[in-house]
Amino acid sequence: MSESTSVVPALTPAPTTMVIFGATGDLTKRKLLPALYRLKVLGLMPKTFNIVGYSTRDFSHSEFRDFAVSAVKKYSPREPEEAHLEALFQNTHFVSSSFDDDGGYKKLTRVLEVLDEKTEGPQASRIFYLATPPSFFEVIIENLYKAGLSDDGAAAIDRPKVIIEKPFGRDLASAKNLNEVIAKYFDEEQIYRIDHYLGKETVQNILFFRFANGIYEPIWNRRYIDHVQITAAETNGVGKRGKYFEESGTLRDMVQNHLMQLLSLVAMEAPASMSPGKIRREKIELVQALRPISSDNVSSDTVRGQYAAGTLDEQEVPGYKDEVGIAADSETETFVALKVFIDNWRWADVPFYLRTGKRLKKNVTEIAIHFKRVPICLFTQTLTGCPENNTLILKIQPDEGIAFQFNVKRPGSSRHMEQVTMDFSYGETFKAELPLAYERLILDCMLSDATLFPHKAGIEASWAYITQILEAWQGESAPPIVEYEAGSWGPDAAEELMTRERRFWRND
Ligand code: BG6
Repeated sequence: MSESTSVVPALTPAPTTMVIFGATGDLTKRKLLPALYRLKVLGLMPKTFNIVGYSTRDFSHSEFRDFAVSAVKKYSPREPEEAHLEALFQNTHFVSSSFDDDGGYKKLTRVLEVLDEKTEGPQASRIFYLATPPSFFEVIIENLYKAGLSDDGAAAIDRPKVIIEKPFGRDLASAKNLNEVIAKYFDEEQIYRIDHYLGKETVQNILFFRFANGIYEPIWNRRYIDHVQITAAETNGVGKRGKYFEESGTLRDMVQNHLMQLLSLVAMEAPASMSPGKIRREKIELVQALRPISSDNVSSDTVRGQYAAGTLDEQEVPGYKDEVGIAADSETETFVALKVFIDNWRWADVPFYLRTGKRLKKNVTEIAIHFKRVPICLFTQTLTGCPENNTLILKIQPDEGIAFQFNVKRPGSSRHMEQVTMDFSYGETFKAELPLAYERLILDCMLSDATLFPHKAGIEASWAYITQILEAWQGESAPPIVEYEAGSWGPDAAEELMTRERRFWRND
């Protein structure tokens, strides 16, 4: 596949300056800089694009530039070309300061002014990317305002924007508080909250698949669907993020945001139009219809696990407690499984099983819709047992596509039925590389399109649901944190969540 083929829309944004707070951190290295590089290769970058890195590292402008080039070389899916690197990083600057130091914002303002003097035509629009730990979000936002950087009058085509990474709060109260602080200094339309799952092509496709095809909607309900499984399994452990993970855990890290997004997209009602506001409203309605998990059902409907040492890809890997930055008696969960009900007419009594964890057997994110079995087994005289139920699998990653499983008669045999799969693969059909999630989101932000960015009301709705679980986990009826072997599919309790109802996770 050639690097210049892409399915990204061909729109180019106005001149932009992107200031990255936390410019020398992991997220910047692994995700942001490679995404900027891809946009450059695809010709989707504005004619003028300036990068200003801001962090406490003692870098000169050129040292930061070298850092950025090596990050792209290391983390890009394919070997970058010197000419594109040169063009991308020709206007790269650095401000070395702590995030709470007025002096740092003065230096930043000066750098921005110098860049503006060099820019022909209207002033470059500014994007402030908060790629820092969440404890710095408020102080950066306040300092940007105090430095006069939250509004630049009519000098640029677009008003300054702020991109805020997750985690957005750690419970309902802190998420509300953060939203209130932001609202003091910036207008809502200037804020772009990231959930990078929404930038994934396969996640965006969920609504297209559901609402651009006539045949699924009539059967997308409790009459035809037995249950739904949503899995986001990772082989990675916590790596160098031990400190963050100890404060977060998997419920906050993965479920509150990414899994709730997948759940709401697959289960929401059809919006009246595809406008961001209408989609948002349906997603919030869905989250608000989730049956609360409280002390009554927390032990039957939730599982929390933590990985122990094990073997993955024939390599021995340590347990969570032996990772860097983890307390020896840590009670942080690295695996969560939930049984969730949506109390509305479409989904009443249809269980949605969600699971996600680290150090699991395989990297796979998918939504599997298990349809009800046939009402009567007509083939009992020739077969042992009834046919399997039909399953539709929305394959989010890494093997992007859609599969449908159904039963056929095995040729030549009157006694055997077999389940076969119809498979659609993005790679084979479109012969183009899918855009990286961050590539799409950064481009949309430059184009002032907030469709794929969660809104504050949606985030608060999701936290309202998750906070109840966090609270129930503090209570006496909480399920214990059970260990699972690295390289497995999680704790036995997660299997039991299904098997006691004669259902099974799609493992392997
Ligand atoms: C991040 C989480 O939001 O998503 C990580 O903080 C997780 O812990 C990652 O590994 C998973 O993203 P992806 O795109 O690799 O599925």
